[in-house]
Amino acid sequence: MARMSATETPQAAPRILSGMQPTSDSLHLGNYLGALVNWVKLQDEFDAYYFVADLHALTVPTDPAVLRDRTRKTAAQFIAGGVDPERSALFCQSHVTEHAELGWVMNCLTGFGEASRMTQFKDKTAKGQNANVGLFTYPMLMAADILMYDAAYVPVGEDQRQHLEITRDLAERFNTRFGEGGLVVPEPYIVKGSAKIQDLQDPTSKMSKTGSSPKGLIDLMQDPAKIAKNIRSAVTDTEAEVRYDVENKPGVSNLLVIHSVLSGTRIEELERAFAGRGYGDLKKEVADVVVDALTPFQKRMAELLDDPAELDRILASGADRARVVAQATMARVRDLVGLVPAAR
Ligand code: TYM
Repeated sequence: MARMSATETPQAAPRILSGMQPTSDSLHLGNYLGALVNWVKLQDEFDAYYFVADLHALTVPTDPAVLRDRTRKTAAQFIAGGVDPERSALFCQSHVTEHAELGWVMNCLTGFGEASRMTQFKDKTAKGQNANVGLFTYPMLMAADILMYDAAYVPVGEDQRQHLEITRDLAERFNTRFGEGGLVVPEPYIVKGSAKIQDLQDPTSKMSKTGSSPKGLIDLMQDPAKIAKNIRSAVTDTEAEVRYDVENKPGVSNLLVIHSVLSGTRIEELERAFAGRGYGDLKKEVADVVVDALTPFQKRMAELLDDPAELDRILASGADRARVVAQATMARVRDLVGLVPAAR
């Protein structure tokens, strides 16, 4: 079985794919630095597919109007952050119905025990979240998202590593069972340092919506004065030396990473520049760098949200591009697993 059908256009560059859940009105700095910044860089080099994981968001009960609003806002933030919909296919997961179909095939390849060992499911249920079966099968839908596009790389933050591992296992299992050349085994693209932006108040935990306190989080859509205030009150340590040392100085190291990615200055250079200066100076400069980066972002967001019809048009055109690949993959998968083609 050939990997590519004759009607499919040859691929110009290797593919990459990634997605984010629309679980909030605003992405946070972890989403931005851990993933979005790399999406933007990689779109020059790769055939990129970026999507809003709205089906995954259904695993947490959300008001339908809120979900719709957040889905559009999440897509708009991809664009405001630099994803170019002319170059990258930008779409909603639910617009390409093949994702759910391949998700089912992945469910049927996954052992019950294997799924039970996924840490995100274990953590959420341990915290008392009332889990549904969708949350349990979440990683298999994610595997489908990735394998659908023959993605060579998947740019994500550190917290997605286990999901990437099960995706690779499932691709290999599929190929062993149904023949080599069925699915591409993807590589994670996880950048050391920025792949785990930490909570400002609890710098040993990752920044997240459900973190220690609202002061630990930087939302991309937050008021700049509040962003600066949260950075100024970031937890550091009792020394005074600005040095990158994740183990002993997690708070300072986190601030250095944030500065470095946004200003494009190497960490060693920052260490030199802050030698003999206190944490107050570092925090002030980090706040300036973050606010400088987010001011044009917020301005672009306002323009995008002002024209929802244009945003929907972009998403529709991205889904058209994604569907071409998804339909070819599903035709191949259906054939390999033994489903009878529908007569035309
Ligand atoms: P989500 O929506 O939780 O997060 C989106 C992206 O942000 C990264 N991230 C972080 N990076 C660094 N520091 C942090 N503190 C931080 N917090 C979040 C995440 O690693 C992610 O890259 N399961 C995925 C969505 C998804 C997906 C996919 C991703 C669905 N299908 C297919 C890639 C490929 C998720 O919930 O990400």
